[in-house]
Amino acid sequence: MSDLNTTSSLLGLYADVTRMRLMCLLETHELSVAELTRITAVPQPRVSTHLGKLKDAGLIRDRRVGTSTFYRMDAARLSESALAAWRAIAAQLTDAVLADDAERCEEVVASRLGATHWADAVAGQMEHHYSPGRTWEATARAFVGLMHLGDVLDVGSGDGVIAQLLAPRARRYVCLDRSAKVIDAASARLGQLAHVEFVCGDMHAIEVPDNSFDQVLSFSVLTYAQDPKRCIAEWFRVLRPGGSLVLVTLDEHRHQELADAYEHLNRGFAPAGLAAVLAAAGFEVDRCDVAARERRKPYFDVICAFARRPSVAAPHARRGRAAAGKPTSPAAPRS
Ligand SMILES: C[S@@+](CC[C@H](N)C(=O)[O-])C[C@H]1O[C@@H](n2cnc3c(N)ncnc32)[C@H](O)[C@@H]1O
Repeated sequence: MSDLNTTSSLLGLYADVTRMRLMCLLETHELSVAELTRITAVPQPRVSTHLGKLKDAGLIRDRRVGTSTFYRMDAARLSESALAAWRAIAAQLTDAVLADDAERCEEVVASRLGATHWADAVAGQMEHHYSPGRTWEATARAFVGLMHLGDVLDVGSGDGVIAQLLAPRARRYVCLDRSAKVIDAASARLGQLAHVEFVCGDMHAIEVPDNSFDQVLSFSVLTYAQDPKRCIAEWFRVLRPGGSLVLVTLDEHRHQELADAYEHLNRGFAPAGLAAVLAAAGFEVDRCDVAARERRKPYFDVICAFARRPSVAAPHARRGRAAAGKPTSPAAPRS
């Protein structure tokens, strides 16, 4: 919350072409005045003046390295209203000038190499800079090598993209999806793996006995739930004591048009509320927070939750499950 004067001066700060360009650059890179000058071709004194204003308002922070000062926007330190206003502005911004800035920024950062080693040039900021072959996809595929999975239920498995990655590390892997067409596609993708099963059914009411799985995965599917609490209670039921739930879903958002376009039945979840639902179902919640922010508009925040069914059911867990209700319509196994 902020009052009229604070809001007006905040919007006044953003309402400048150069400052918006600087904010866009500093949101993703830590840069010096000289580098910002080279990127934007705005004279150095003007860049410095704008940076001073942004820094005084707490919108960016600086860091001295030797004789240089590097600037960066730090979303975690921005006030809630400043961050919300910036995100609203940034989500609507498209301009050829910004695209040119982004391109020149990469060149400028790369040219730091002339002065020093690459690693030294980006120390402390490595995740914000390009490094050949160092992609999130390659990293995720490598992490799979650390996994030893038991009996896995992939809820809302889609056509088996995640299963293709994880099933080789599992003892048994069940793809569950409500769409017969999608399950057929998953089967075509993975049918050669004898320990992978394909089930057409509803995640609110899964036709398997209690205590059937060691891991339940719910990737990008909770936004399709008519009754998220019931889904979570159902996933608890099918997990064995000591089993884990890994859940990926959207943070709460206001983009109804996108929810409609993708047939989502809800607009994401506040992390604290989702953690409370997991706990009420009986889970021990290890983490439930925003783990990533999409790089494309409208910059959805994505929640990751890790939760465990306790080895011995606690009394409150039994109450939570009873409150969440039992499934009513059974799912149909396909093969
Ligand atoms: C966005 S896709 C995610 C697929 C996969 N988890 C992944 O990350 O690649 C969502 C999937 O959930 C399935 N789905 C939606 N509602 C469902 C429900 N009530 N029960 C089971 N599956 C459902 C859809 O058919 C779709 O294949």
